[in-house]
Amino acid sequence: MNALTSIGTQENAIMQTIYERRSVRKYKNKKVSQDLIEEVIDAGRMAPTAINMQPWKFYVLTDKARILSLSTEIAKAAENAFNRAHGVDKSNTIGYIFHGAPVVIFITATKDDEWASLDIGMCAENIMLAAKSLGLDSCPIGLAKFVEQTSSFPKLKISASETVKLGIIIGYGDEHPAAKERKRNNIVYIV
Ligand SMILES: Cc1cc2nc3c(=O)[nH]c(=O)nc-3n(C[C@H](O)[C@H](O)[C@H](O)COP(=O)(O)O)c2cc1C
Repeated sequence: MNALTSIGTQENAIMQTIYERRSVRKYKNKKVSQDLIEEVIDAGRMAPTAINMQPWKFYVLTDKARILSLSTEIAKAAENAFNRAHGVDKSNTIGYIFHGAPVVIFITATKDDEWASLDIGMCAENIMLAAKSLGLDSCPIGLAKFVEQTSSFPKLKISASETVKLGIIIGYGDEHPAAKERKRNNIVYIV
């Protein structure tokens, strides 16, 4: 059961956005405006962070050729970690790491922050929900962290004190995947 069922939630815009977001891996050849990119990143900045560290930085790529060549390089670097369960389809020739999306955001965090992974996860979900609510689609790209093992990495000018935690692709989706079934036997009431 992946649809909204509770009384009242059908009219709740946040609940609707949560349930309608999907990892989208096919995009229209349509640019996303800088205003929209900044609006969704702003939503990311509103995520809570441990002791308000806000440990993130956002590296945004919109150049098609650059995204494609990075995708190819990351695919090579990530070959050993490659896992079909990540939803990566090698037969997709339009750069299967970034799925042909027009926007890639690398989210980095300071290396010495023990809470950073949680902070970035919250930030990323805010970005993806904001994107959905503004008519865009997205997909988190864990494999994006392998950018650190490519020869193009220095060109991104990411400081040595930061590490790439996650990539997010954004664009106008060109597919409507059904929601994946959620496991539901995972609540334990302690009585
Ligand atoms: C931390 C994280 C890393 C992910 N990495 C990738 C990735 O590298 N490539 C990809 O296509 N999808 C990736 N995904 C997307 C998941 O496959 C997807 O969220 C999951 O299958 C559930 O589908 P849904 O997002 O449509 O609900 C990642 C998701 C998360 C949370």
